[in-house]
Amino acid sequence: MPSTAQQASAVEVGLDPALEPVYQRSCSVCHSNAATTGAPLARDRGAWAPRIAQGREVLLDHTINGFNGMPPMGACADCTEEQYVALIEYMANAKIKDE
Ligand code: HEC
Repeated sequence: MPSTAQQASAVEVGLDPALEPVYQRSCSVCHSNAATTGAPLARDRGAWAPRIAQGREVLLDHTINGFNGMPPMGACADCTEEQYVALIEYMANAKIKDE
């Protein structure tokens, strides 16, 4: 088992294959495209670190209600909170603190 924070942060967070089409039709439109309006790019840990640090509640609030250029529900009207968390953790390549 990884015991130090350094080892833990090196763990890659993948995406559930069932969520791949959801990611492709919604989040990826902005979060995998550097030409868009400043969305933090998927798998860019540095860009996501300060955002992920906000915790689950704030991240879900910003995803569901929108946040600046981030549209409400991230263009996925039928996503559940659990799916949003999985999508965010995939993009951040890091786990969200559950508090
Ligand atoms: C239309 C473009 C667009 C789509 C589609 C989109 N996002 Fe975003 N997202 C953005 C932009 C732009 C930001 C940066 C907002 C800022 O920091 O000003 C952002 C930021 C975020 C953040 C960080 C919010 C914070 O508090 O820092 C999360 C989480 C997020 N998006 C999740 C998602 C998820 C999950 C999806 C797919 C279900 C998604 N986004 C789809 C444009 C988009």
